[in-house]
Amino acid sequence: MTDVVQLKRRGFGETMRRDAWWLPQLGAFTILSAFLVYATWAAFQNAHYEYGPYLSPFYSPLLFGNSPHAWFARAPGWLPAISPALLILPFPAGFRFTCYYYRGTYYKAFWADPPGCAVGEPRDSYHGEKTLPLVLQNVHRYFLFFALIFLVFLAHDAWKAFWFGDEGARHFGIGIGSLVLTTNAILLGGYTFGCHSLRHLVGGYLDRFAGRPVRRTAYDCVSCLNRGHMRWAWASLFWVGFTDAYVRLCAMGVWHDWRLL
Ligand code: FES
Repeated sequence: MTDVVQLKRRGFGETMRRDAWWLPQLGAFTILSAFLVYATWAAFQNAHYEYGPYLSPFYSPLLFGNSPHAWFARAPGWLPAISPALLILPFPAGFRFTCYYYRGTYYKAFWADPPGCAVGEPRDSYHGEKTLPLVLQNVHRYFLFFALIFLVFLAHDAWKAFWFGDEGARHFGIGIGSLVLTTNAILLGGYTFGCHSLRHLVGGYLDRFAGRPVRRTAYDCVSCLNRGHMRWAWASLFWVGFTDAYVRLCAMGVWHDWRLL
């Protein structure tokens, strides 16, 4: 016969854990805060977002302007004259902010709910994500469609980053920036294609896969990426910020873009 163990409710921060359980939360708080500050600053700059065939992912797709990266020369009159990044970033930001992995991370890091597994919480009620405002996190499944469309734009930017127009005609070449933009598209692809919502969409909602080989393969592929979703999330976050910084510093003349070919 097993003795019944009474669980004791712990006060805020109380725990029997002896490891540095607070370290991942501190790291997440620092990195996410730094990224938010940098991305907001970069979005308001409205300058130095392109260099030759390179376009910062914060400003892609560039819909209007005189830039060779712009889709159209003139913006419609009703569009406010603000930095293009302010119109673009809400979509990838909304996708990332509502991501299932990041939710678990920033709930702990920013408002200690809970501070960590088996660590006392600051409140004794639990509402989950069933009420406002957190029920709005369900919008993630819709942001997924925008994220998939943005991947096409970023893959196209990566392709264009290999075509240089130094002497009038475009020719194939490889610069460090070409590799930076390509890595950015790959990492964001790995993050997006491992999304929990996509996993549900491609087959997770089915009760059985028998007789559905395409669904099975798609589900296995997304599941494979999903297993490393945390690593893809951090790697793609760091790299998308670095890609903007790389293009920006080249455009400002601070960094030189080395050509490998
Ligand atoms: S769950 Fe993380 S991107 Fe969808």
